[in-house]
Amino acid sequence: MRFGFSNALGVTTSPTELIMSRTLILIAAASLVVIRLALSAHAQQLPNATPSMVEMTEQPTPAPAGFNNRTNGFTEQAQFDRDRKAFEEVETILPETKDDNAATAGLRKRRSSANPPSSSENSEAGGGLGPVYNATSCVSCHQNPITGSSSQVSEIRAGRRDPNTGNFIEPPGGSLIHQRAIRAEIQEHVRPGDNVRTLRMSANTLGNGFVEVIQDQTIIDICNAQPRDMQGLPIVVPVAVAVETVADGEPDEFKFVLRIGRFGWKAQEASLLNFSANAYLNEMGITSPLQPNENKSSGRDVSQFDEVADPEDEAQPKPNLSTSKPTKPDDFLHPFGEDVEAFARFMRSTKVPPRDFALTELDIFKDVVKAGEKIFSDIKCAICHTPQYITPLAGTPIRPRWRQNNSIPGIDFGRDDKQGVVPEALGNKILRPFSDFMLHDIGTGDGIVQTQDAQRPARNAQKFLQQAQQAPEIQRLQQAPAEAGRCVVHMVQDLSAQPTSTTAENLEGIKASGARVLDGRTANMIRTAPLWGLRVRPQLLHDGSALTTEEAILRHYPVHTLQQSVTNAVHQVGSMPQRCSSVLTCNRHTFEPAAARPAPDANRRIRHQPPATFDSCSTG
Ligand code: HEC
Ligand code: HEC
Repeated sequence: MRFGFSNALGVTTSPTELIMSRTLILIAAASLVVIRLALSAHAQQLPNATPSMVEMTEQPTPAPAGFNNRTNGFTEQAQFDRDRKAFEEVETILPETKDDNAATAGLRKRRSSANPPSSSENSEAGGGLGPVYNATSCVSCHQNPITGSSSQVSEIRAGRRDPNTGNFIEPPGGSLIHQRAIRAEIQEHVRPGDNVRTLRMSANTLGNGFVEVIQDQTIIDICNAQPRDMQGLPIVVPVAVAVETVADGEPDEFKFVLRIGRFGWKAQEASLLNFSANAYLNEMGITSPLQPNENKSSGRDVSQFDEVADPEDEAQPKPNLSTSKPTKPDDFLHPFGEDVEAFARFMRSTKVPPRDFALTELDIFKDVVKAGEKIFSDIKCAICHTPQYITPLAGTPIRPRWRQNNSIPGIDFGRDDKQGVVPEALGNKILRPFSDFMLHDIGTGDGIVQTQDAQRPARNAQKFLQQAQQAPEIQRLQQAPAEAGRCVVHMVQDLSAQPTSTTAENLEGIKASGARVLDGRTANMIRTAPLWGLRVRPQLLHDGSALTTEEAILRHYPVHTLQQSVTNAVHQVGSMPQRCSSVLTCNRHTFEPAAARPAPDANRRIRHQPPATFDSCSTG
């Protein structure tokens, strides 16, 4: 009996766990189509694999699940605990233990609690917060119910549309409007004319190490199998995987590959390491080798307000180097910054969010959950909310979709012969995130374009992207006509880099103001929200505007056709007695073709209104 595994809170740590809210649990499970897909993706890891070969390999096991602060095995528990502390560490403006000239520029200090300081090292820690920032630690926004999860904390994004071209234009300094600053006079605000505005809810990071090792091809296979009018958009983003050149003892340029983005509301990152560098800068104002420049305040350079030299989270050389400072890429122990690497290692070591034990295991709920699983796939939720993946076998190289040169690993982790391959702890695991990790326009889009970087590109990423855009293979892909059933892979362009004649005039003015124009094709698209961990999120959708699960579901376009079946499903599962005697006797509707959709409202504001009525239920 599985009860034996549950702890005092009734939360089981059994690896078969996953999550779903009490309401959605009903509609939560695997559609056969998608499971088949996930399994076939698994078979693809073995070139020319025959069914019998696949059977001979070890059976996949469920990814470890639990809200319990235990490692999934990617790192040892002691390292996990230290990395968690780094993720929880509150940053301060000045270092906590100052040396004599702490207040002067040029200050460098050891920041990380991820690795215990040796006696010879400077004992200062922290410092460098801001000048503009959102919160003082990663855990401030990623905490509920444990470190690394999501929370109710939201952020502000804003911008405007070019009235002539419709292009999205970021405010000077970027679309993220920082909610805090270390000096009153540099506080950022939304400019009155920036009428494209939204909030962004903090996202879950638990279990994302498993998501990170999903092969790009698996996502493309899912896309190709989706019905044409519901096909997601895979977004290709740059990922820094190693140091390319060293100058003056610091990493100067990084090696990049292109992978399909999967993290963030716009799927704007494919790597937890790159996301960490971005988050450290954009959420906390801490610079690192990949993101060495402080954010601006509404376009003004405010770096002088921060007294700690950049990059604040420095690259760490290997101990006992023969030279006084690093001269080649191999000379670094932590090339991306000690903290940034600790955050990534922590997230890669987390277990996936567990299912609600009571709902999945107690007899009184089990049948309802099963009914929900069926409805979930019957009414096509599972087409986008892909229930299940199996990660590649341990040792499989992580293949980026494109890279310049085959000797470059597809991911930053691992050393020597394990560089860039799926590690033991993350390989051959079944995970159930309920997302295709692609972008869709379901009518909730907010008009913001941020794809390919949260706020600004990583160091030398722009240069790499420009080279990649020139690559014949990429050009062919971008120019290829969309064919029925063929998935279109999207590489977003920074239009400021290539002004066209119609927009050149506008662009000059925009560039002079320091703002960028971004490729607007994804403006109203959002990544399919992974539904694992849903039960710990009381505010749903990217902007937190849905306060109930029902509302989140009913906000999916086209509400008027989907509403009935969803309403039925929700009532069937959530509240008994239902309004329909049986969901299955109620009308089932399909999604309308994209062409029939009304144009999205570019200036849509945050809505906090109840969804359309639940009242009627026609039977048929
Ligand atoms: C002020 C709140 C806040 C802080 C502080 C913060 N985050 Fe986040 N985090 C967010 C929000 C909001 C998102 C969704 C961002 C988006 O895509 O627009 C997010 C998303 C993420 C994701 C992507 C998860 C996914 O699957 O979409 C990762 C990874 C992440 N954060 C890591 C970090 C790390 C590491 C830190 C500390 C350096 C950090 N965050 C600090 C609010 C925060
Ligand atoms: C066409 C793709 C697609 C289909 C089909 C789809 N969803 Fe979604 N779903 C999304 C996207 C995209 C989002 C994120 C929207 C946003 O945040 O604005 C989302 C968000 C959600 C959320 C909010 C989760 C959160 O954490 O904020 C829930 C709940 C949800 N979907 C349930 C369902 C159910 C139930 C169905 C079937 C009735 C369904 N979805 C069908 C794409 C889809």
